[in-house]
Amino acid sequence: MGDKITVSLIKADVGGWPGHSRVHPDLIKKAQECMEKAKRDGKLIDYHVTAVGDDLQLIMTHKKGVDNEEIHKLAWDTFVEATKIAKELKLYGAGQDLLKDAFSGNVRGLGPGVAEMEITERKGEPIITFHMDKTEPGAFNLPIYRMFADPFNTAGLVIDPSMHDGFIFEVLDIKEHKKVIMKTPEEMYDLLALIGAKSRYVIKRVYPKPSNPKLKADEPVAVISSEKLYQIAGKYVGKDDPVAIVRAQSGAPALGEVLEPFAFPHLVSGWMRGSHNGPLMPVSVKQAHCTRFDGPPRVMALGFQLANGKLVGPVDLFDDPAFDETRRTAAQIADYMRRHGPFEPHRLPLEEMEYTTLPNVLKKLQGRFQKL
Ligand code: F6R
Ligand code: MG
Ligand code: MG
Repeated sequence: MGDKITVSLIKADVGGWPGHSRVHPDLIKKAQECMEKAKRDGKLIDYHVTAVGDDLQLIMTHKKGVDNEEIHKLAWDTFVEATKIAKELKLYGAGQDLLKDAFSGNVRGLGPGVAEMEITERKGEPIITFHMDKTEPGAFNLPIYRMFADPFNTAGLVIDPSMHDGFIFEVLDIKEHKKVIMKTPEEMYDLLALIGAKSRYVIKRVYPKPSNPKLKADEPVAVISSEKLYQIAGKYVGKDDPVAIVRAQSGAPALGEVLEPFAFPHLVSGWMRGSHNGPLMPVSVKQAHCTRFDGPPRVMALGFQLANGKLVGPVDLFDDPAFDETRRTAAQIADYMRRHGPFEPHRLPLEEMEYTTLPNVLKKLQGRFQKL
């Protein structure tokens, strides 16, 4: 146990109300009780419980480091408790993301999504947590790239001497289970060649360059959850609905530079049955409920100042008329995409439908295909 603070964001869908649209308030209440008890027992410094769409989200601070068994077990047990209520209320898909029967040391690989970082708290430490529903981890590629590598988004890359040398990206190949470290601006084009293929290559972490005087080079400035549910379950069980933690200001992008990429509602995969491309709509906590065609995919942003691990906040960052036009544009794109019905590129291409029911349709027709 050192002086460093760990921020752990762990989420799971343990039941929807109704369908896959939102989290029932009783689940949030139960999770708050579990977190409050852990705080009283000294396991946590602080916590905040929230929800986006049908995903229950636990934001926790402590001094135990990342991948800590006690913290992961706390999250798992909290989801188990919430599942009990979801079952009583017969909520939809109760316990759906608890893919394994028992906890075994770490929630990774059991269903829940995880983003964690251990950091030395600066004099002022703004933290932004992002929460997405009805999409996959690669949905973060474009906005994270723009925050940390695109000078047309982040003025600080040009103007602020402390971040002028750029940032370092850790990219996962989620098919082959490999990772690669890449530097920007030097390797910007190579990085884009990978992360443009967002269903395969996902940004996992971003680090400052060693020359950045305001941040420690071995402590991340951004971390994104990368769990792929289908790889754990072996079949389609819904999209992964990723989360991320981003640090802002003093050597990192300013708060407004962190939020700016979301003013463009880019196309992401997910939406209805995890099988459609659609616009990512930035929403307030109040609007974070998926309705139209089970979507469209949404992202919520909460802002905190850390004070010795205490989460001073949250501030509902997309609850702002400055994002109204983005939401309108997203709604218009949703209209446009919907008119394609079952046709690509609204429906995902075959390779990405691999784990849905589509292969069964093809299997059924196998014997009826004739050679040309
Ligand atoms: C997408 C999602 C929903 C469901 C859809 C069908 O991630 O969760 O769009 O895929 O509502 O759900 P089931 O098969 O449970 O009826
Ligand atoms: Mg669900
Ligand atoms: Mg969900």
